[in-house]
Amino acid sequence: MPGFEIFGDEEKKEIAEVLETGVLFRYEFGEQRKGVYKVAEFEKMFAAYCGAAHAQAVTSGTAALKVALMALGVGPGDEVITQGFTFVATWEAILDVGAIPVFTEVDESLNMDVADLVSKITDRTRCIIPVHMLGSAADIESIIDIACRHGLPVLEDTAQAAGGTVGGKHLGTFGKCGTFSFDAVKTMTTGEGGMIITNDPKLWRQMSEYQDHGHDHVENPGARGGEGRNFIGFNYRMMELQGAIGLAQLAKLDFMVKRQKEHKARLQRAASTIPGVTLRRQIDPEGDTATFFAFLLSDKEHCQRVGDHLKAQGVGAINFAENTWHFYPQWEHLLSGATLHSSGWPFKTPEGKRRVIYSPEILPRSAAIMERTLVYPVAINMEEEKLASICQALESAAAL
Ligand SMILES: Cc1ncc(COP(=O)(O)O)c(C=O)c1O
Repeated sequence: MPGFEIFGDEEKKEIAEVLETGVLFRYEFGEQRKGVYKVAEFEKMFAAYCGAAHAQAVTSGTAALKVALMALGVGPGDEVITQGFTFVATWEAILDVGAIPVFTEVDESLNMDVADLVSKITDRTRCIIPVHMLGSAADIESIIDIACRHGLPVLEDTAQAAGGTVGGKHLGTFGKCGTFSFDAVKTMTTGEGGMIITNDPKLWRQMSEYQDHGHDHVENPGARGGEGRNFIGFNYRMMELQGAIGLAQLAKLDFMVKRQKEHKARLQRAASTIPGVTLRRQIDPEGDTATFFAFLLSDKEHCQRVGDHLKAQGVGAINFAENTWHFYPQWEHLLSGATLHSSGWPFKTPEGKRRVIYSPEILPRSAAIMERTLVYPVAINMEEEKLASICQALESAAAL
């Protein structure tokens, strides 16, 4: 991570083609655009790359989650299960459609704990959102099995794992739909941007209309504005410049993943020399995108010692137990129900009655895992000197 490391002539060429037409809007301007439809082409190529029937581009990974949840019909009165280790966007989108997020533990895959998922399903559950965190797959096949048994749709939050696979099948294609982020720090980036993939034509059509104010996109003689509409929507449209960059980045995605895997393998070898270390459990190491390298120490104190040592060597690693954006007990605004709505919505009803209370202690197994886990982001262009100094620091941590 991230794809901007290898911006080059390919991205410039794609952008220039858009600027030459002067059309930044993804729809209309038929004559002026001379056949250049970058967002539509990006959707087609991204769907084909993942092996999905349809793709819908949107403005961000957060918008992708929101649009997908709306198309799945999730709303007030519903519960959506996701994991307590994710970026805040996953549950922001759930709250934004009026549903209540329910959080599962994560296991040593750092993804959804499948046994805990089963215990969290109620008759109000309407959707399950596993997150393929830090570039590696959740136990998606087990999750799909459980969801099928309960007749629930699975929305895969694949924001951090574009290009990842399990058994050769792309992440995002196991569930009813999969969402992606192309924000500034993602493996493939368009600065801001997102995508939703699905094999369900009706779901795709609903997403396509919802992200564009409800325009039904049916050909009409009177140009834009003359189309019909089936329901109210919003504006989450991707623009042509993003589509152009996306096309160039997508063509490099396999290369980016390959480079990251090479770098990660070296970090992994070095970390494995530390007594008591275990590597993050991988569902399918072949399909890992290697965007991050995570390793678990024997306990919290050991993790602290190794973490301090790495920092002292100038190559500090991330401990997500302390990270305020990715781990449940650190989301003080969620726990306290802080919102701009004067009624307290979405944590309270419009009448001011509490809809949900989140206690910081509900995920003890996740906390026990996160407090002994260290993580390095893996770059595409990691300088040899940097890589060698991290490896050296890891190897010298063996003595601690
Ligand atoms: C797991 C996860 N979901 C959703 C998002 C939201 O993506 P965006 O930043 O494009 O809105 C992110 C972004 O970091 C993420 O990591």
